[in-house]
Amino acid sequence: MNQEQLADHLVPYVLAPRRNLEFLDLDLGDELQVETMLLENEENAEFCSILNRSNHRAFGGRDDMGMPLWVLLDCAILPSAVVGFMLPVERAPDAVVDRLDIDDDYEGYIPVSEYCGCPTVEEDCVSGFSLHSHLVGQGIATRTKALAMAVYGARSQIGVTQFYNPAIRVHVRFGAMEILVHRPAVHTHSEDSFVYRLELPPRQVLLNMATGSDVFGQSTIPEGIRWEFDPDNEMMQGRLARHLREEGQVWLIPPGWRATEEGCELHMVLG
Ligand SMILES: CC(C)(COP(=O)(O)OP(=O)(O)OC[C@H]1O[C@@H](n2cnc3c(N)ncnc32)[C@H](O)[C@@H]1OP(=O)(O)O)[C@@H](O)C(=O)NCCC(=O)NCCS
Repeated sequence: MNQEQLADHLVPYVLAPRRNLEFLDLDLGDELQVETMLLENEENAEFCSILNRSNHRAFGGRDDMGMPLWVLLDCAILPSAVVGFMLPVERAPDAVVDRLDIDDDYEGYIPVSEYCGCPTVEEDCVSGFSLHSHLVGQGIATRTKALAMAVYGARSQIGVTQFYNPAIRVHVRFGAMEILVHRPAVHTHSEDSFVYRLELPPRQVLLNMATGSDVFGQSTIPEGIRWEFDPDNEMMQGRLARHLREEGQVWLIPPGWRATEEGCELHMVLG
């Protein structure tokens, strides 16, 4: 099955407790008919288990950033909803079925992408995590993040990522990413990480991005000094840390991240 045919079979899903549904925006138009997977429905147990395996495959398992099951429940499902795209098992590529260890007799849907966003103390701002996709290079991660933000009705988002992570190319499609915390002390990969904030595009743009008809949100590039940042260069890391300490602002701007022969480079603006 080619990519276009595969895309035709993707179904948006929302996994949540029943009482959260009234707080989510699930009326997203004809092209995004969301399937709700209720936490209370025992028939969804295997789906949840696949979802957790999916997160572990994407984030290096239990010894790295793989989410314990209780975190999936306490931090993602209970306060909010897990959002993504899924495929009927018979449509899923063999590589995905193998990677997610799907039982031969499983007949349900396979989640092929996921995003979690839990509410924060700030109104309409979510803390996003666990963005991943097993159908790489087809815009699915971008569509997933957009879908999730539309479902939550979020206007802004905070999150953590790593300087070396090409997912920056996905996040930056939603707007200039303001770096809030350089190398947060509380992280599994503290030295490689930063905390960012995004002001999200309007709902309709998010919906267009969720269907794939828009690839980028509308974003204004902040004014300031352009900087090609090499995360392997400790002088640059020091300058970034100093700039933030002295209350300067730093944004990542599109395309955000680029592989280089030596490693990677990030596109920043210092304000
Ligand atoms: C990173 C990840 C989410 C991308 O998923 P995806 O579905 O391929 O993403 P998209 O198709 O929406 O890609 C959007 C952009 O990112 C780029 N991109 C994605 N993965 C890339 C990679 N490994 N190397 C270079 N560019 C990459 C795409 O080329 C595209 O950019 P372009 O069209 O400007 O070239 C996926 O590879 C993944 O699940 N990684 C493991 C988990 C992870 O690290 N998540 C990020 C947490 S912050």
